[in-house]
Amino acid sequence: MTEKVRKELDAFDMLMQDHREVESLFREFEYLRQNGRNAGRVIANACAELKIHDTLETGIFYAAVDEAAGDEELDRLLDEAEEEHDTILELIEKLEQTPVDHKQRDAYFTTLAEHVKHHVLKDETERFPLVKQLERLDLDSITAAMKKRKAELIAEMGIAEADEETV
Ligand SMILES: [Fe+2]
Repeated sequence: MTEKVRKELDAFDMLMQDHREVESLFREFEYLRQNGRNAGRVIANACAELKIHDTLETGIFYAAVDEAAGDEELDRLLDEAEEEHDTILELIEKLEQTPVDHKQRDAYFTTLAEHVKHHVLKDETERFPLVKQLERLDLDSITAAMKKRKAELIAEMGIAEADEETV
């Protein structure tokens, strides 16, 4: 077994770790699809991960950023983030209401993946760099609130937390 180094993740690390996890599920989905295999489990996992991510990012992270922000550019970017999250949640709802054997399900998931990839790019190249410059942001308390909520959500949803803090 490989030696793993544990370090404390902050809120940015946690959100980016979520992004990497869903990206890897998108790659797994593509692989399964190309090999004519069922991707139902991957779709369900990605939807669960994305719902947790949304709760943490919109409900805690961007809510705190919004309070600390006073910058018009950042306000505009936060509005965009909210719209992206709304669209992503609508697509998840549509997917979850689609029967598992429905032929359009993969297409819906591909659309969801495109929206998420766009959202990830905007977070990591536009919003996070600006947020990191905010002096009034209490990153420690945001991180603590996100960790607490994430543990609760994982317990509620019955998801196994695999090496969440291991990088
Ligand atoms: Fe995000």
